[in-house]
Amino acid sequence: MSKEHLAFYGGRKSVEKNFGWPVFDDNEIKAVEEVLRSGKWGSPNCQDKVAEFEQAFAGYCGTKYAVSCVNGSVSLRIAVIASGIRPGDEVIVPPYTFIATASTVIECNAVPVFVDIEPGTFNLDPAKIEAAITPRTKAIIPVHFGGLACDMDSILAIAEKHGLTVIEDAAHGHGAEYKGRKLGSIGKAGSFSFQSSKNMTSGEGGVVVTNDEEMYKMMASLRNVGRLEEGQWYDHFNAGCNYRLTQMQAVMLTEQLKRLEVQTRIRHDNGRYLAQLLNGIEGIEPLKSDVGETLNCYHLFIFRYRPEAFGGLGREEFVNLLGAEGIPCLKGYPHPLYKQPLFQEKRFMCYAIPESADYTGVYCEEAEKACNESVWILQNSLLGDKSDMEAFAEAIRKIKAAFS
Ligand SMILES: Cc1ncc(COP(=O)(O)O)c(C=O)c1O
Repeated sequence: MSKEHLAFYGGRKSVEKNFGWPVFDDNEIKAVEEVLRSGKWGSPNCQDKVAEFEQAFAGYCGTKYAVSCVNGSVSLRIAVIASGIRPGDEVIVPPYTFIATASTVIECNAVPVFVDIEPGTFNLDPAKIEAAITPRTKAIIPVHFGGLACDMDSILAIAEKHGLTVIEDAAHGHGAEYKGRKLGSIGKAGSFSFQSSKNMTSGEGGVVVTNDEEMYKMMASLRNVGRLEEGQWYDHFNAGCNYRLTQMQAVMLTEQLKRLEVQTRIRHDNGRYLAQLLNGIEGIEPLKSDVGETLNCYHLFIFRYRPEAFGGLGREEFVNLLGAEGIPCLKGYPHPLYKQPLFQEKRFMCYAIPESADYTGVYCEEAEKACNESVWILQNSLLGDKSDMEAFAEAIRKIKAAFS
């Protein structure tokens, strides 16, 4: 097979289907129209649709409470503050994640401490956590990266031994499960994002779920300018802000939640099937799927790419060729988080962070490798059918044949 057969060079595309995202139907349109016509778009006193969504999402996750807010960074931020993290406390986070996992810790005047990821899952490596614990450590934020559950039993056991709070960053984890429990419902609190690319979206948005009443009340207050449920509109008790969701966003999310379970099962089945197909291609190594996750929502389908098995074809070029074949994909983060100028140059603007905090010597080998070797296929393409997964594998074989 020659290069001319590749779509990038003018050949026929392997996948013609357009995996659009976001998806919606008349139910969203009707629900948003109803809110528009009602004139009840948001506070004050017009939060019934928001409350309905929160109840539905908490129920779906199996938790008592949910507090929605403007995005999945703020949801993490209010969870961190409400969990009792104080200035100068240390919080363990993985370095292979979106910046918000660590920058929200900084925003709370606390110190993110990076612990490397497991090579097979790209999730926080429990075997490396204890070495990073100091008397100042107060919490762990495991990220269920790409929708694949972290090893929560091991993380919770370490947290319990050292008296640490576990806040799950489930920004990628809508509907996914660990040993039959919904991600986000396993630690003290679980945070989700509803930003446009996420498996459930209202354009922007976020939510935290918890079973802890005290934490719930504090997060609800922080989200609502420090007000208390029993207080008056102009009474402010806590240092919160207006982080409220609108009623239009809430009804969109209520509709999206109704299809989440079906979509998650489709992504799970397709992801497993695709992993099986790609495992047969030398140089393509999908992540593991035997770490206790009973349902993977595949926000990202991730594999390592080995150029040496593709005649030296670089990863960037491979991703461009695969994209041209009709498969939405990315090469992911260019660096582990500690390499960002925010950390290297300590541009924190939070003066409670001790001078001793220094990221210039941090090096997490597995996170570095993940940044250099991974390819992400985006969740919407896993909403296709089995024949689409076969076409994805075929597209990769086609590229391989052109370069080997
Ligand atoms: C792992 C992770 N945590 C937190 C966030 C923050 O969510 P948002 O973009 O809604 O603020 C994201 C967003 O991409 C994320 O990927």
